[in-house]
Amino acid sequence: MKRVLTGDRPTGKLHLGHFVGSLKNRVKLQNEYDTFILVADVQALTDNFDQTGKIKDNLLNVIIDNLSVGIDPKKVTFYVQSLVPETAELTIYLMNFISFNKVLRNPTVKDEIAQKRDKFKGNPPFGFVAYPINQAADILTPRADIVPVGFDQAPMIENTNTIIKKINSLYGQIFNEVTPVFGDIGRLIGTDGSAKMSKSLGNTIYLSDTEEEVRSKVMKMYTDPNRVKSTDPGRVEGNPVFVYHDAFNSDTEEVKDLKERYVKGTVSDVEVKTKLVAAINKFLDPIRERRAYYERNIDEVYDILSAGTKRAREEGKKTLEILKEAMKINYNLFTN
Ligand code: TRP
Repeated sequence: MKRVLTGDRPTGKLHLGHFVGSLKNRVKLQNEYDTFILVADVQALTDNFDQTGKIKDNLLNVIIDNLSVGIDPKKVTFYVQSLVPETAELTIYLMNFISFNKVLRNPTVKDEIAQKRDKFKGNPPFGFVAYPINQAADILTPRADIVPVGFDQAPMIENTNTIIKKINSLYGQIFNEVTPVFGDIGRLIGTDGSAKMSKSLGNTIYLSDTEEEVRSKVMKMYTDPNRVKSTDPGRVEGNPVFVYHDAFNSDTEEVKDLKERYVKGTVSDVEVKTKLVAAINKFLDPIRERRAYYERNIDEVYDILSAGTKRAREEGKKTLEILKEAMKINYNLFTN
């Protein structure tokens, strides 16, 4: 059975952008692939070394977010990155198979460094710059074939394949190249209309938001800035409220009707938003129910993580064996 690996940094609650970018695909792929999902606490450290408490606080939340959308712990192996030291060991080896300049050209890392200019004082830690290599090690820990992620992660997959190709060219066909799977909406617009839903921009709707939080956020959403009165014809394309209707309202007839009336100027923003509140809350209700279940049964979450971490370590050991044997550094000098 082919394998999937993906994961999240435990730096905050997951939101609708995570859902359309990756979680939705995880739910689907878990039925066809042996799936591994990690909590990337080591990666989170690369830019949260000064607020490590945040990482710990979010560790379980991120797992519960995943479980709440319908990921089945009987099918999926969940683990904590720092509890799998094999990934760290692997990272050190992988560093040899990608050039310094190539890593520095990773556009996502470049964007992040620009965003965190103040924090990094213009001089990011080496661990941060190198995190794509650590992410390649995550992907190789269970020797995954498929990686469901948002668009912003495409360069990480590319770096991973650079490493895999180099290894294969040096030592023979050792690992398979990996394929990213993007969501149909790889990057969800924020409630304020900016290009990306993101915690740092404060334009998110969380999977764990209450009905009231959803209502208040949606009623404040940006719509067509050129539409002053509800009798003005409005623009549907790129309009955040309609992007969300398309993504989360299961009543396609209602969405079609709202769009037609919006273009003609026969529906108010308030009606469009009120219906969106109802649609998102309907979408979130089963998610809220599963969340409540796991919050009541937190021991189950610990058991899931402990069994998963054990399995991930076994797989990581196997990967190291394969690689070290290929590199001819598998000497058993001291073990027998
Ligand atoms: N970089 C990813 C993010 O910020 C998280 C992540 C860590 C990941 N390791 C991974 C994603 C391995 C896919 C595969 O969302």
